[in-house]
Amino acid sequence: MPETPSIPLTRHTVSAARMGRIREAVRHADTLPGADGGSRAARVTDAEALTDFLLDPAIHAPIYSLPRPLDLRTVTAFIQAHLAEQDRGEGLLFVSFFDDGRVAGYSDIQVWPHWATGELGGALHPERQSRGQGLAGAARSFDWMFQTLGLERICETAAMDNVRTAKLLDALGFERMGEVVSRRADGSPRPSRVWEIDRAAWRHGAAERRRRVGGTQDR
Ligand SMILES: CC(C)(COP(=O)(O)OP(=O)(O)OC[C@H]1O[C@@H](n2cnc3c(N)ncnc32)[C@H](O)[C@@H]1OP(=O)(O)O)[C@@H](O)C(=O)NCCC(=O)NCCS
Repeated sequence: MPETPSIPLTRHTVSAARMGRIREAVRHADTLPGADGGSRAARVTDAEALTDFLLDPAIHAPIYSLPRPLDLRTVTAFIQAHLAEQDRGEGLLFVSFFDDGRVAGYSDIQVWPHWATGELGGALHPERQSRGQGLAGAARSFDWMFQTLGLERICETAAMDNVRTAKLLDALGFERMGEVVSRRADGSPRPSRVWEIDRAAWRHGAAERRRRVGGTQDR
């Protein structure tokens, strides 16, 4: 049987020096710029608030990379795993908060330093969904991944029926690359669409992005 392709689909190995710079940038990242003060790196002490947030199906249902089952123990382990990934320069987990301490959103960044490629996943609180904040926040985060982490390419996936994510990625100029079967934490399969964009295409789309989103940077 042919092997199921896995992401990223485009794989160009970069120099050891470039890979080392990316790992260092990941290790030193502690905030992700965004509206309302942005997000900060998740701590183990965020586990309870993050569990409460993730338990809503409007948040977790479309996301394959979250723990299954979702409870305080598995979410604590999820945060710990990301802290270990950050130490290796391969992953980051950011959370943002409402003023009352509830989690307002999270961003999960996976990095393949040897291919200078990354993936951004995450969710907004339902109170903040479908108001254009996801598009604007994603544009800002992708800018940050190219500029601050020094990545060359971003690869994204979404469930086949995730209309908002598909529109968002199409609107930001990502190219549809095909389909893969993603695996949830419990091993169950999740068919996914795949999009990619490289640094040159991201830069090329800056003016159009500014028109759609406003205010994102152009570098
Ligand atoms: C995915 C998510 C981050 C998108 O953010 P958002 O703020 O809700 O989306 P936006 O309002 O910025 O809209 C993005 C696109 O979807 C469209 N859209 C928004 N709400 C929609 C709806 N209910 N139905 C269809 N399209 C919708 C917008 O018009 C926009 O498309 P356009 O740029 O072509 O106009 C957010 O909905 C979310 O957290 N969802 C739950 C978790 C999830 O799916 N995460 C992504 C996993 S890969």
